[in-house]
Amino acid sequence: MTLPRQQPSRRPTVLRREAVVAAVPVAVAALLVAASPAAAGTVGAAGAGDPYFTLAGNGGYDVRHYALTLGYDTGTRHLDGKTVLTARATQRLTRFDLDLKGLKVTGVTVGHHKAAFRRDGQELVVTPRHALRKGQEFRVTVTYRGTPKPVTDPDGSLDGWIPTDDGAFVAGEPQGAMTWFPGNNHPTDKASYDITITVPEGRAAVSNGVLLGQRTSHGRTTFRWRQTEPMAAYLATATVGKFKVEQFTTPDGLRVYNAVDPREATAAAPVLKKLPSVLAWESSVFGPYPFRAAGSIVDHAPQVGYALETQTRPVYDRAPDLSTLVHESAHQWFGDSVSLTTWKDIWLNEGFATYAEWLYTEQHGGKSAQKTFDALYARPASDDLWAFAPADPGDGSHIFETPVYARGAMALQKLRAAVGDPVFFGILRAWAGGHRDGHGTTAQFIRLSERLSGKDLGALFHTWIGTAGKPSSP
Ligand code: TRP
Ligand code: ZN
Repeated sequence: MTLPRQQPSRRPTVLRREAVVAAVPVAVAALLVAASPAAAGTVGAAGAGDPYFTLAGNGGYDVRHYALTLGYDTGTRHLDGKTVLTARATQRLTRFDLDLKGLKVTGVTVGHHKAAFRRDGQELVVTPRHALRKGQEFRVTVTYRGTPKPVTDPDGSLDGWIPTDDGAFVAGEPQGAMTWFPGNNHPTDKASYDITITVPEGRAAVSNGVLLGQRTSHGRTTFRWRQTEPMAAYLATATVGKFKVEQFTTPDGLRVYNAVDPREATAAAPVLKKLPSVLAWESSVFGPYPFRAAGSIVDHAPQVGYALETQTRPVYDRAPDLSTLVHESAHQWFGDSVSLTTWKDIWLNEGFATYAEWLYTEQHGGKSAQKTFDALYARPASDDLWAFAPADPGDGSHIFETPVYARGAMALQKLRAAVGDPVFFGILRAWAGGHRDGHGTTAQFIRLSERLSGKDLGALFHTWIGTAGKPSSP
């Protein structure tokens, strides 16, 4: 992927090379350029190529595993961090970037050697002592500290490390992972995680996957979490607060860990009690639950204004209602296990999770998904619902808006009506099963739907996800 911009701080290297080239005859210059460390093809790109977030992610390597060791002081809001990432070079690399915004980097090593580094906006530019061969496995250690600050997204919402009155609400969609750890911040690069967090005694630090252990000494408690199945960086959390914790294992071996802010406990209790049955119902509809752990983090963070489907354990800014729990749980299949390839395809996450709410209502004594569709279709052509095509939000500022959620779900109801229930539910299961722990694109979903139904669905998808404005018939 190519670099979409030229930063002033990058110029000195380029100028120096040009000066050398200008001083020697042309043929020799060509040789020098080819041998130069900055020659084309050996510098990892600053972005993963996503048109909505051009600097998100990086090129030239693929992370396999992150080991994060964090210490957070809830009083001073100071974070001490060490990130060790294991990656594989997908090209020869004389230099590569990690994404990191804010914080002070105190050291970077690649393999056993100290590496040179500099900061350039949200890019941490690393120059290892020795170039990395294509295909080489390598390990990068970054030590850093400071006061993490959330990012403000194009739509004005906060994401990343968001301080609360008793800790931090940590949710990284779409960009915020880089506010608390350096990495490859795009869903195309999924990895396993070990997250170890130390907080003052009396607070809990809740992350993804299974809790391996917890130890208190000298007034501080360390929590060790392991997320085994591949995870996109934005789905990582390390939410800190004064939580009431409940842990149990379901009869089929699912490890459940719920953490609830006491201020939300009364409202949250009846909804959280339903989590095992919601996951069981979703498993019966979408196929096996894709992870070994589950749970919820119910914080009291009114300034946030949204919940996030953090992998295995969604994080809620307040006690969720049942629909929200169903929605974030459905994301474990659609969005978490089957990840986006590009943010433009966000309807594959939000349209599906919204449709799961409609289905849950339908199958639990409420109105049918068709009725929900009909009520939405009745909205006038001027309504926001029709403002843009779900599969084309235009840019990163509209990815969490009504056309993505509600009209995305309407497209699935249209698909269901066109192919019939047995084929439709077969498509949902084949999508979740076939792309489990991986990625999907809108084009792949359309192809799968056409293959399993034997129908040409081009016009249907064109109308319902590809075209702005209210379709002329429901
Ligand atoms: N993906 C979240 C959900 O639907 C919503 C979300 C994440 C969000 N970040 C956001 C919504 C920022 C608005 C603004 O469950
Ligand atoms: Zn959602």
